[in-house]
Amino acid sequence: MRSSALLAGVALSTAVHALDLDDICTSSYLAAHFPAVDFYPGITLNPGSIAASVVLNASVTGNVFYPDITFDYCDVNFTYSHDGLGDSVVLTYWLPSPSNFENRFLATGGGGYAINSGTNSLPGGMGYGAVAGDTDGGFGPIFEDDAVLDFLVANGTRNWQNIYMFGYEAIHEMTVIGKEFTKTVFNMTTNNATLYSYYQGCSEGGREGWSQVQRYADQFDGATIGAPAFRFAFQQVQHLYSNVVEMDFDYYPPPSAAATPFGAATPAQNGTVSAQAIAVAQKILDGLHTTDGKRVYFTYTSSSTFTDAQTAYNATSQSWELDITSLGGSFVEVLLDLKNGSNLETLEGVTYDTLRDWIWEGWNQYNDVLMTNWPDLTPVKQAGAKIIHFHGESDYSIPTASSVRYFESVRQIMNPGLSYNASIEAQNEFYRLFLVPGGSHCNYNTAEPNGPWPQTNLAVLIDWVENGIVPVTLNATVLQGENIGTNQQICGWPLRPYWTNNGTTMECVYDQTSIDSWMYDLDAFNMPVY
Ligand SMILES: *[C@@H]1O[C@H](CO)[C@@H](O)[C@H](O)[C@H]1NC(C)=O
Ligand SMILES: *[C@@H]1O[C@H](CO)[C@@H](O)[C@H](O)[C@H]1NC(C)=O
Ligand SMILES: *[C@@H]1O[C@H](CO)[C@@H](O)[C@H](O)[C@H]1NC(C)=O
Ligand SMILES: *[C@@H]1O[C@H](CO)[C@@H](O)[C@H](O)[C@H]1NC(C)=O
Ligand SMILES: *[C@@H]1O[C@H](CO)[C@@H](O)[C@H](O)[C@H]1NC(C)=O
Ligand SMILES: *[C@@H]1O[C@H](CO)[C@@H](O)[C@H](O)[C@H]1NC(C)=O
Ligand SMILES: *[C@@H]1O[C@H](CO)[C@@H](O)[C@H](O)[C@H]1NC(C)=O
Ligand SMILES: *[C@@H]1O[C@H](CO)[C@@H](O)[C@H](O)[C@H]1NC(C)=O
Ligand SMILES: *[C@@H]1O[C@H](CO)[C@@H](O)[C@H](O)[C@H]1NC(C)=O
Ligand SMILES: *[C@@H]1O[C@H](CO)[C@@H](O)[C@H](O)[C@H]1NC(C)=O
Ligand SMILES: *[C@@H]1O[C@H](CO)[C@@H](O)[C@H](O)[C@H]1NC(C)=O
Repeated sequence: MRSSALLAGVALSTAVHALDLDDICTSSYLAAHFPAVDFYPGITLNPGSIAASVVLNASVTGNVFYPDITFDYCDVNFTYSHDGLGDSVVLTYWLPSPSNFENRFLATGGGGYAINSGTNSLPGGMGYGAVAGDTDGGFGPIFEDDAVLDFLVANGTRNWQNIYMFGYEAIHEMTVIGKEFTKTVFNMTTNNATLYSYYQGCSEGGREGWSQVQRYADQFDGATIGAPAFRFAFQQVQHLYSNVVEMDFDYYPPPSAAATPFGAATPAQNGTVSAQAIAVAQKILDGLHTTDGKRVYFTYTSSSTFTDAQTAYNATSQSWELDITSLGGSFVEVLLDLKNGSNLETLEGVTYDTLRDWIWEGWNQYNDVLMTNWPDLTPVKQAGAKIIHFHGESDYSIPTASSVRYFESVRQIMNPGLSYNASIEAQNEFYRLFLVPGGSHCNYNTAEPNGPWPQTNLAVLIDWVENGIVPVTLNATVLQGENIGTNQQICGWPLRPYWTNNGTTMECVYDQTSIDSWMYDLDAFNMPVY
């Protein structure tokens, strides 16, 4: 009697002691609350590799994808290998305190040729009680342009495993494992609660988001995707267009002329813009065409900086010279020419037609792994997932029109026979596109300080998924300048912002001319370009 009362008392005190971060954030606790090492066919998890440490009072300010935040978390990583390959992929997950956990998982991606953003994206989950995860894809520690160095086994021989890991496998595996790990650590497998799963990423991270949404319909309940680097062969090769224009005109504008179309002065410059600089700028703004005048791709909007056109100063010759854009140059050197490197050494002999042919070649060879513009999203719509897609209207790296084209391709493929407005309505049930006035590449724009930036997308997405609150306009904030902190709303495509009452009121209006100005006929190709 006495001993069983004592036992009951012990059991009771165990039950009422809620676990805190210190309790769960040890290798031994996590190894004991770990998915079965072979739960994922073809993969073996390595619980012996678990490293975990508590981080208290971490704080992030000034990130454009989530509001400023101070938080405690458990920094966990462990490895897994693909059966038969003997490789090792590092997964990193940040766990919120058990008392802050809200049954959510957030997957994140990278930028450039990197598959993660280091510690930049993971805090995005912490304000919403989500476990946040990233992967190194097996490529090792992160630095910009990392993965491209892993795309070959040797010169001339592709490492297809790594190319597919970068294309879509790595984020998928990190997500499936991360959801299972989250459920195990937080007892969700026993209490049968729903785990909501989200994705957030921009640029290459945006492409990675679409790579998942297009393939794995049930994986995410929602995704917020910015300025995706999809239509990969087009996107990377178009980075070289400005360079080829400079070669065509044999004019290499100094930075002030290259940085803005209106030529802001620097001490070395006197504020004038040469006729040649204007001709180069105009040709860049026309977009890539073949020599027989057919359109190959979109260009940046005229409000963007001319970042791809930046030149390099040669102190010996005391002149500005060609500076090959490495995002484009590495695509051609590594993925087309199969030579290990991070840029082309020269563009000698390269013409507008060469760029078109490189795009065709990259499209043809990597259509199923890197292009990421599969237009039929029926499975994900049927699964009930929600997608917020946004793109700055002054993006200097990924043409804004690229996102409009994908949205419109999906609309057409999924809604045959419906009128334009009816098909927009059908698409908006699960997928909404927002063009951010003045927005730069995955960031606000210092040249347009009063513009909005959608910093709270994950909160808006959670509201849409979990509470059915439809983002008819996208919540945004002025993040710089005299109006910092002001709330603004961003219109949903195809509606366009129209300012009335002397600029004090914004309406979202249907303006056919404005809509049409975003549509292009890419007639340099015989295949449809989704
Ligand atoms: C894994 O986590 C440990 C402890 O949190 C940390 O010290 C280590 O740098 C991490 N390793 C990797 C590869 O991220
Ligand atoms: C948490 O960090 C902030 C600064 O980021 C500091 O002011 C505060 O004292 C810290 N709190 C604790 C409990 O360490
Ligand atoms: C490619 O170059 C990088 C950096 O120079 C090097 O680490 C890597 O081993 C090389 N890969 C191959 C296949 O040569
Ligand atoms: C999970 O369940 C066990 C046993 O019921 C309990 O002791 C533990 O506190 C729970 N863990 C969490 C993170 O809630
Ligand atoms: C778990 O929840 C699902 C719905 O969320 C329900 O269909 C199922 O019956 C539940 N299972 C148990 C064992 O309670
Ligand atoms: C400005 O600089 C350009 C190029 O260096 C030169 O041709 C031009 O004469 C200068 N104009 C003035 C007003 O100094
Ligand atoms: C700089 O100019 C000198 C002289 O014209 C030339 O020999 C050299 O190759 C140039 N350097 C680069 C990096 O282009
Ligand atoms: C591979 O190609 C790169 C780039 O052309 C070159 O620098 C490197 O020397 C080549 N490596 C071998 C082993 O041939
Ligand atoms: C489509 O909807 C817009 C409002 O969103 C409206 O102004 C326009 O007239 C509609 N077009 C047609 C053909 O109904
Ligand atoms: C909308 O943005 C404002 C700041 O502009 C913020 O205070 C508010 O919480 C956001 N709403 C949602 C749903 O995130
Ligand atoms: C419009 O706004 C400008 C700048 O705020 C102000 O100077 C001007 O008086 C306003 N005009 C009217 C008609 O209100």
